[in-house]
Amino acid sequence: MSNTVRVLVLGDVVGQSGCRAIFAHLQGLKKSKKANVIIVNGENASDGRGITPELCDMFFSNGVNAITSGNHIWQQTSIHSYLDNSMYLLRPENYPLGVPGKGSCIVEIDNVKIGIVNLEGRVFMSSIRCPFLIGKEICQRLRKQTKVLIVDFHAEWPEEKEALGLYLDGSISALVGTHTHVQTADERILPGGTGYITDIGMTGPSESIIGMRKDIVIRKNLTQMPLKMEVEDSPADIMGVLLEIDIDTGKTLSIERIFEKSKV
Ligand SMILES: [Fe+2]
Ligand SMILES: [Fe+2]
Repeated sequence: MSNTVRVLVLGDVVGQSGCRAIFAHLQGLKKSKKANVIIVNGENASDGRGITPELCDMFFSNGVNAITSGNHIWQQTSIHSYLDNSMYLLRPENYPLGVPGKGSCIVEIDNVKIGIVNLEGRVFMSSIRCPFLIGKEICQRLRKQTKVLIVDFHAEWPEEKEALGLYLDGSISALVGTHTHVQTADERILPGGTGYITDIGMTGPSESIIGMRKDIVIRKNLTQMPLKMEVEDSPADIMGVLLEIDIDTGKTLSIERIFEKSKV
Protein backbone atom coordinates (compact mmCIF):
# COMPACT_ATOMS: atom_id res chain seq x y z
CA MET A 1 0.00 0.00 0.00
CA SER A 2 1.31 3.48 -0.84
CA ASN A 3 1.10 6.30 1.66
CA THR A 4 -2.58 6.61 0.94
CA VAL A 5 -5.52 4.36 1.66
CA ARG A 6 -8.66 4.23 -0.47
CA VAL A 7 -11.84 3.65 1.46
CA LEU A 8 -15.15 2.77 -0.21
CA VAL A 9 -18.20 3.55 1.92
CA LEU A 10 -21.63 2.41 0.72
CA GLY A 11 -24.95 3.69 2.03
CA ASP A 12 -27.73 1.79 3.72
CA VAL A 13 -28.23 -1.60 2.08
CA VAL A 14 -31.99 -2.05 1.64
CA GLY A 15 -33.57 -5.50 1.45
CA GLN A 16 -32.91 -8.25 -1.05
CA SER A 17 -32.34 -5.75 -3.83
CA GLY A 18 -29.49 -4.10 -1.94
CA CYS A 19 -28.01 -7.40 -0.79
CA ARG A 20 -28.04 -8.81 -4.35
CA ALA A 21 -26.19 -5.71 -5.55
CA ILE A 22 -23.55 -6.09 -2.83
CA PHE A 23 -22.99 -9.77 -3.57
CA ALA A 24 -22.90 -9.27 -7.36
CA HIS A 25 -20.93 -6.05 -7.67
CA LEU A 26 -18.81 -5.38 -4.58
CA GLN A 27 -15.68 -7.16 -5.76
CA GLY A 28 -15.85 -5.48 -9.17
CA LEU A 29 -16.37 -2.09 -7.56
CA LYS A 30 -13.46 -2.70 -5.20
CA LYS A 31 -11.24 -3.50 -8.17
CA SER A 32 -12.36 -0.67 -10.43
CA LYS A 33 -12.09 1.90 -7.64
CA LYS A 34 -8.84 0.38 -6.31
CA ALA A 35 -10.36 0.38 -2.83
CA ASN A 36 -8.36 -1.06 0.06
CA VAL A 37 -11.14 -0.95 2.63
CA ILE A 38 -14.91 -1.36 2.35
CA ILE A 39 -17.42 -0.04 4.87
CA VAL A 40 -21.12 -0.70 4.34
CA ASN A 41 -24.09 0.57 6.33
CA GLY A 42 -26.28 -2.51 6.79
CA GLU A 43 -29.14 -1.22 8.94
CA ASN A 44 -31.87 -2.05 6.38
CA ALA A 45 -30.42 -5.23 4.87
CA SER A 46 -32.97 -7.64 6.34
CA ASP A 47 -36.13 -6.70 4.44
CA GLY A 48 -35.63 -3.06 5.38
CA ARG A 49 -35.55 -3.76 9.09
CA GLY A 50 -32.16 -4.35 10.67
CA ILE A 51 -29.71 -7.07 9.74
CA THR A 52 -29.34 -10.73 10.69
CA PRO A 53 -26.18 -12.57 11.76
CA GLU A 54 -26.37 -14.62 8.54
CA LEU A 55 -26.38 -11.49 6.37
CA CYS A 56 -23.49 -9.99 8.35
CA ASP A 57 -21.47 -13.16 7.75
CA MET A 58 -22.29 -12.97 4.03
CA PHE A 59 -21.25 -9.31 3.86
CA PHE A 60 -17.95 -10.08 5.56
CA SER A 61 -17.25 -13.08 3.33
CA ASN A 62 -17.93 -10.89 0.27
CA GLY A 63 -15.19 -8.45 1.26
CA VAL A 64 -16.87 -5.96 3.57
CA ASN A 65 -14.41 -4.95 6.31
CA ALA A 66 -16.86 -3.22 8.64
CA ILE A 67 -20.64 -2.83 8.83
CA THR A 68 -22.08 0.33 10.32
CA SER A 69 -25.74 0.84 11.17
CA GLY A 70 -28.27 3.17 12.76
CA ASN A 71 -31.73 3.38 14.24
CA HIS A 72 -32.97 0.16 12.55
CA ILE A 73 -30.18 -2.04 13.92
CA TRP A 74 -32.27 -3.32 16.83
CA GLN A 75 -35.17 -4.72 14.81
CA GLN A 76 -33.86 -8.25 14.30
CA THR A 77 -33.42 -9.52 17.85
CA SER A 78 -31.04 -12.25 16.68
CA ILE A 79 -28.49 -9.50 16.04
CA HIS A 80 -28.26 -8.41 19.68
CA SER A 81 -25.85 -11.11 20.81
CA TYR A 82 -24.01 -10.91 17.47
CA LEU A 83 -23.44 -7.20 18.16
CA ASP A 84 -21.78 -8.12 21.43
CA ASN A 85 -19.53 -10.70 19.81
CA SER A 86 -18.61 -9.15 16.46
CA MET A 87 -15.53 -6.96 16.14
CA TYR A 88 -16.71 -5.30 12.95
CA LEU A 89 -20.47 -4.83 13.18
CA LEU A 90 -21.17 -1.44 14.76
CA ARG A 91 -24.20 0.31 16.19
CA PRO A 92 -24.13 4.03 16.92
CA GLU A 93 -21.80 4.69 19.85
CA ASN A 94 -24.03 7.29 21.50
CA TYR A 95 -26.93 4.99 22.43
CA PRO A 96 -27.56 4.72 26.19
CA LEU A 97 -24.98 2.79 28.16
CA GLY A 98 -25.73 -0.91 28.49
CA VAL A 99 -27.26 -1.62 25.07
CA PRO A 100 -25.66 -4.45 23.05
CA GLY A 101 -22.63 -3.85 20.88
CA LYS A 102 -20.23 -0.98 20.38
CA GLY A 103 -19.80 2.00 18.11
CA SER A 104 -16.22 1.83 16.93
CA CYS A 105 -13.59 -0.53 15.64
CA ILE A 106 -10.18 -0.53 14.05
CA VAL A 107 -9.67 -2.44 10.81
CA GLU A 108 -6.06 -3.31 9.99
CA ILE A 109 -5.13 -3.92 6.35
CA ASP A 110 -1.54 -4.19 5.07
CA ASN A 111 -0.30 -2.77 8.40
CA VAL A 112 -2.51 0.31 8.09
CA LYS A 113 -5.06 0.92 10.83
CA ILE A 114 -8.38 2.45 9.85
CA GLY A 115 -10.57 3.61 12.72
CA ILE A 116 -14.32 3.52 12.12
CA VAL A 117 -16.88 5.28 14.31
CA ASN A 118 -20.68 5.08 14.08
CA LEU A 119 -22.79 7.89 15.58
CA GLU A 120 -26.47 8.79 15.38
CA GLY A 121 -28.14 12.20 15.26
CA ARG A 122 -30.87 13.46 17.59
CA VAL A 123 -32.90 15.84 15.43
CA PHE A 124 -36.16 14.10 14.42
CA MET A 125 -34.69 10.93 15.91
CA SER A 126 -34.43 9.34 19.37
CA SER A 127 -33.02 11.49 22.15
CA ILE A 128 -29.87 9.50 22.70
CA ARG A 129 -26.56 10.79 24.08
CA CYS A 130 -24.86 13.77 22.45
CA PRO A 131 -23.12 12.74 19.21
CA PHE A 132 -20.86 15.78 19.42
CA LEU A 133 -19.41 15.09 22.87
CA ILE A 134 -19.37 11.31 22.51
CA GLY A 135 -18.00 11.64 18.98
CA LYS A 136 -15.17 13.92 20.02
CA GLU A 137 -14.27 11.71 22.97
CA ILE A 138 -14.14 8.46 20.99
CA CYS A 139 -12.28 10.01 18.07
CA GLN A 140 -9.67 11.42 20.44
CA ARG A 141 -9.27 7.96 21.95
CA LEU A 142 -8.95 6.21 18.58
CA ARG A 143 -6.56 8.86 17.26
CA LYS A 144 -3.96 7.57 19.68
CA GLN A 145 -3.92 4.40 17.56
CA THR A 146 -4.40 5.85 14.06
CA LYS A 147 -4.95 9.16 12.30
CA VAL A 148 -7.12 7.48 9.67
CA LEU A 149 -10.62 7.83 11.12
CA ILE A 150 -13.94 7.51 9.31
CA VAL A 151 -17.20 8.54 10.96
CA ASP A 152 -20.60 7.29 9.71
CA PHE A 153 -23.02 9.86 11.12
CA HIS A 154 -26.47 8.33 10.82
CA ALA A 155 -28.75 11.32 11.02
CA GLU A 156 -31.78 13.01 9.51
CA TRP A 157 -31.09 16.72 9.61
CA PRO A 158 -28.48 18.36 7.33
CA GLU A 159 -27.74 21.14 9.82
CA GLU A 160 -26.77 18.61 12.48
CA LYS A 161 -24.61 16.71 9.99
CA GLU A 162 -22.73 19.76 8.74
CA ALA A 163 -22.27 20.94 12.31
CA LEU A 164 -20.71 17.63 13.40
CA GLY A 165 -18.52 17.57 10.29
CA LEU A 166 -17.14 21.01 11.07
CA TYR A 167 -16.93 20.31 14.81
CA LEU A 168 -14.68 17.30 14.11
CA ASP A 169 -12.88 18.84 11.12
CA GLY A 170 -9.16 18.26 11.35
CA SER A 171 -9.46 15.52 13.95
CA ILE A 172 -10.96 12.87 11.66
CA SER A 173 -10.33 11.84 8.06
CA ALA A 174 -13.94 11.92 6.92
CA LEU A 175 -17.52 12.22 8.09
CA VAL A 176 -20.08 10.59 5.81
CA GLY A 177 -23.79 10.95 6.49
CA THR A 178 -26.26 8.07 6.19
CA HIS A 179 -29.94 7.41 7.04
CA THR A 180 -31.94 9.52 4.57
CA HIS A 181 -31.26 7.09 1.66
CA VAL A 182 -31.00 10.15 -0.61
CA GLN A 183 -27.55 11.03 -1.90
CA THR A 184 -26.49 14.67 -1.61
CA ALA A 185 -24.15 16.46 -4.01
CA ASP A 186 -22.19 18.41 -1.40
CA GLU A 187 -19.13 16.20 -1.09
CA ARG A 188 -16.07 18.30 -0.26
CA ILE A 189 -12.97 18.55 1.85
CA LEU A 190 -13.47 20.80 4.88
CA PRO A 191 -10.79 23.41 5.78
CA GLY A 192 -9.03 21.11 8.27
CA GLY A 193 -8.74 18.23 5.78
CA THR A 194 -11.81 16.21 6.70
CA GLY A 195 -13.77 14.72 3.81
CA TYR A 196 -17.47 15.42 4.13
CA ILE A 197 -20.82 14.55 2.54
CA THR A 198 -24.23 15.11 4.11
CA ASP A 199 -25.59 11.77 2.87
CA ILE A 200 -24.06 9.06 0.74
CA GLY A 201 -27.49 7.60 -0.11
CA MET A 202 -28.50 3.94 -0.12
CA THR A 203 -27.72 0.67 -1.84
CA GLY A 204 -31.28 -0.25 -2.59
CA PRO A 205 -34.06 -0.52 -5.17
CA SER A 206 -34.01 2.25 -7.75
CA GLU A 207 -37.73 2.10 -8.56
CA SER A 208 -38.76 3.05 -5.05
CA ILE A 209 -39.22 5.81 -2.50
CA ILE A 210 -36.17 5.55 -0.22
CA GLY A 211 -36.22 1.79 -0.85
CA MET A 212 -39.92 1.23 -0.18
CA ARG A 213 -42.78 0.43 -2.57
CA LYS A 214 -43.80 3.75 -4.08
CA ASP A 215 -47.53 2.90 -4.37
CA ILE A 216 -47.78 2.32 -0.62
CA VAL A 217 -45.74 5.41 0.29
CA ILE A 218 -47.81 7.63 -2.01
CA ARG A 219 -51.05 6.19 -0.60
CA LYS A 220 -49.77 6.73 2.93
CA ASN A 221 -49.12 10.37 2.14
CA LEU A 222 -52.50 10.80 0.45
CA THR A 223 -54.52 9.14 3.20
CA GLN A 224 -52.34 9.88 6.25
CA MET A 225 -53.08 6.32 7.35
CA PRO A 226 -50.25 4.46 9.13
CA LEU A 227 -49.77 1.95 6.30
CA LYS A 228 -47.12 -0.72 6.67
CA MET A 229 -44.16 -0.07 4.39
CA GLU A 230 -42.87 -2.83 2.12
CA VAL A 231 -39.46 -2.99 0.51
CA GLU A 232 -39.39 -2.66 -3.29
CA ASP A 233 -37.55 -5.35 -5.21
CA SER A 234 -36.19 -3.74 -8.38
CA PRO A 235 -32.45 -3.72 -9.20
CA ALA A 236 -30.54 -1.44 -6.88
CA ASP A 237 -28.75 1.85 -7.18
CA ILE A 238 -25.38 1.51 -5.47
CA MET A 239 -24.56 4.77 -3.71
CA GLY A 240 -21.60 5.82 -1.62
CA VAL A 241 -18.27 7.59 -1.69
CA LEU A 242 -14.67 6.71 -2.35
CA LEU A 243 -12.20 8.46 -0.07
CA GLU A 244 -8.47 8.71 -0.64
CA ILE A 245 -6.75 9.41 2.65
CA ASP A 246 -3.14 10.28 3.48
CA ILE A 247 -2.03 7.69 6.02
CA ASP A 248 0.57 9.92 7.68
CA THR A 249 -1.62 12.98 8.23
CA GLY A 250 -5.05 11.32 8.25
CA LYS A 251 -6.33 14.02 5.90
CA THR A 252 -8.60 13.26 2.97
CA LEU A 253 -7.01 14.00 -0.40
CA SER A 254 -10.07 13.31 -2.52
CA ILE A 255 -13.72 12.38 -2.11
CA GLU A 256 -15.64 10.94 -5.05
CA ARG A 257 -19.37 10.29 -5.08
CA ILE A 258 -20.39 6.81 -6.24
CA PHE A 259 -23.74 6.17 -7.95
CA GLU A 260 -23.94 3.00 -10.03
CA LYS A 261 -26.79 0.91 -11.38
CA SER A 262 -26.89 -2.72 -10.30
CA LYS A 263 -27.56 -5.21 -13.08
CA VAL A 264 -29.28 -7.72 -10.81
FE1 LIG B 1 -31.46 3.41 6.53
FE1 LIG C 1 -31.73 4.96 9.61
